Amino acid sequence: MLNAWLKKYLNKNRMDRLAGNFTGKIGRTTRLSMDAATVVSTTMPQPESPTQEIPDPDFTDTVYYRSPLRPGGKTPRLIQRFFNQYTTAIFSCAILFGASTSHAEQVVIYSARIEQLIKPMFDAFTKETGIDVKFVTDKEGPLLARLKAEGKNTPADMLITVDAGNLWEAAQEGLLRPVESKTLETNVPAYLRDPQNRWFGLSVRARTIIYNTQKVKPSDLSTYEALAEPQWKGRLCLRTSKKVYNQSLVAMMIAEHGTARTEEIIKGWVANFAIDPLSDETKAMEFVAAGRCDVTIANSYYYGRLMQKKPALPLAIFWPNQEGSGVHVNISGAGITKYAHNVPAATRLLEFLSSEKAQNLFADVNMEYPVNPKVKPDPAVAAWGTFKQNTINVTKAGELQSEAVKLMDRAGYR
Ligand SMILES: [Fe+2]
Repeated sequence: MLNAWLKKYLNKNRMDRLAGNFTGKIGRTTRLSMDAATVVSTTMPQPESPTQEIPDPDFTDTVYYRSPLRPGGKTPRLIQRFFNQYTTAIFSCAILFGASTSHAEQVVIYSARIEQLIKPMFDAFTKETGIDVKFVTDKEGPLLARLKAEGKNTPADMLITVDAGNLWEAAQEGLLRPVESKTLETNVPAYLRDPQNRWFGLSVRARTIIYNTQKVKPSDLSTYEALAEPQWKGRLCLRTSKKVYNQSLVAMMIAEHGTARTEEIIKGWVANFAIDPLSDETKAMEFVAAGRCDVTIANSYYYGRLMQKKPALPLAIFWPNQEGSGVHVNISGAGITKYAHNVPAATRLLEFLSSEKAQNLFADVNMEYPVNPKVKPDPAVAAWGTFKQNTINVTKAGELQSEAVKLMDRAGYR
């Protein structure tokens, strides 16, 4: 009886905290408030005109929130601290009374992947297990800041984000806990997960070369490194070095070639730029298609999305480094938070997301590749051909990220 009451109280309290501290703003100054039964989510805007950019599918609209631990938060800090301590005390009592099934019916997610990319899997999980999934979406920076600020009082059981560099950072900040799971070890190849099991890849994104089919023959292309050769002078467009995708690519090049050789390569890229670095890679591909430059580097899902919208563009994918280390791959992935309330259910969800059943949903929805080797990519993605992946552990993208940023700065890649 007491257990049941505590469970009910804690769940309400936890969702109140999840809900009450958020005020959202999507697009213009629309304020959203969230009750315990809803989630803060975003809607992926669909491009309407040829001049409108295709947004980043990982996260589009920004949802702003006010944390009680931040200036401007709605709840006075002292009251919130008392409230949080009270909650913690109640939660401890629940454990003492043997409430081992507390929260068994619910998992709370902080996600840097937008609702459209995650909700289908959560619905399938709930249908199969009866466990509810609540989620909040935001960019990875605010989510990590929120997890840090909330500490042991966080309502989040799991963090979902993109790029190994971001997951590595979350683990370094002590925000994630190791998960021992034979299922995850089987479903997720070793090079796509943290060696200490604090995060696991759930989909693979391939960062590859996109070229203008009217100006470049596939036989002209070979490797990322070869784009630094003089034959590409004035022909290369790249997204800004500020994007973590390029930082991870360069970090992986440092892991393979060392700093000095990688710096030579990046200087070669900069010398070959047709135009200054661009804010996004869809724009870079459109510049390639328009003949402003001949070649760029992009995640293949951006190519897939652009070609779905404009199939006549003279663009094609080239899989580089096939004679060597393979195509640079990165991940979207997840980890269970250090202070998760419901580790068993969160582990079950993580295992489900890596399963054959969920993998197609998770990868196909964004034209990515499944991590689970038993699962085939979507036919539209498979049509781009098979390729060898670089199997250096993606954790290097995090470990060498700051070195990569400094190196790109020295090389003049802005
Ligand atoms: Fe992206």
